[in-house]
Amino acid sequence: MLVHRPPMGWNTWNTFGTNISDQLIRESTDAFIGAGLKDAGYEYVVVDDCWSKKVRDPETDRLAADPAKFPDGMKAVADYVHGKGLKFGMYSCAGQRTCADYPGSFDHEFLDAETFASWGVDFLKYDFCYKPADINGSLLYRRMGMALRASGRDILFSACNWGSDDVWSWIRSTGAHMYRSTGDIFDNPESYRKIVLSQMEKLSASAPQCFNDMDMLTVGMYGKGLVGNTGCSDADYRSQFALWCMCSAPLMLGCDIRFMSPFIHRLVTNRDLIRVDQDAEARPPIVTRHPWNEKLLTLLKHLDDGSYALGFFNLGEEDWEATATFSDFGLPAHAGYDVSVRNILDREPDAVFREYMRVPVPAHDCRMYLANLVRR
Ligand code: GLA
Repeated sequence: MLVHRPPMGWNTWNTFGTNISDQLIRESTDAFIGAGLKDAGYEYVVVDDCWSKKVRDPETDRLAADPAKFPDGMKAVADYVHGKGLKFGMYSCAGQRTCADYPGSFDHEFLDAETFASWGVDFLKYDFCYKPADINGSLLYRRMGMALRASGRDILFSACNWGSDDVWSWIRSTGAHMYRSTGDIFDNPESYRKIVLSQMEKLSASAPQCFNDMDMLTVGMYGKGLVGNTGCSDADYRSQFALWCMCSAPLMLGCDIRFMSPFIHRLVTNRDLIRVDQDAEARPPIVTRHPWNEKLLTLLKHLDDGSYALGFFNLGEEDWEATATFSDFGLPAHAGYDVSVRNILDREPDAVFREYMRVPVPAHDCRMYLANLVRR
């Protein structure tokens, strides 16, 4: 199965945790379509942990849906999602139990992959809790990678071992299409900042067919729901979303998409930002820091049409002026080119800069541009 672009969709965990149901998935699927998320490129509706009974079916040994949450079973949910032209995702775990203490797939990998395929599942998130201590984690991802291929259905394999065991060094070999590279995100500014800073040096291992997953977005949660925490400001949400796009990370929304504010809706359907995320080359950004304020990052990402995405991020608590020194990105002053920019987040006249660009960036906020070289 070819996965050329970072997967995009919505996942139940961040907001709903165990409070999931057939009705919630149907309503969210309707909201997905109604909000134009499909038109913007989002594709997967993913049910995370807590969907199953607490034990396997004693007769068949298969996983079974919790009848109180999903009275018509998971195939009915998959059919509904497919009926709207979307793809359906589910969750299991490489260990004996899932993180929320439901049955995991350990030693049942092939049976479970076959079950998921028979329900019409298109995406499997595969967690890492309750892994037997004496078994190598990579072996368990190899097993599920093979089991999914043997299932006869195209199922996107979304590994989730939180970055442990140097996952970037072996995950591509297991057949996974994306892999969680950090611990869980929470809806506060420190959490997304920590995640993104921890991944900057590792993004060269993220590429088409297997993308570094920086976790589901908290954009739009405003502190509500399972990982709600303190919540974030709008400035933080646009920084988070833009950073994920600069890193070619999967864009899995985690807020309640039935109730997105106009601001969040505009942000998560911003075609220019999504174009940056989905760029076919998926190159890691070049990262520079302000000479005496290390909380200010300037990122430049090569895009497949010869243009660039240029982002200024203020991960600190004070308003500041951020700088892009073009020679640091490979454009010396004597090269004979200036840089023309178009702001893709805020209204601002297009402009041309020589040698460097300096812009005010409020605390927690960012500025995002598409840039081109122009001959002097
Ligand atoms: C782990 C994962 C989360 C979520 C929960 C479910 O913590 O990292 O993304 O799937 O398990 O229990």
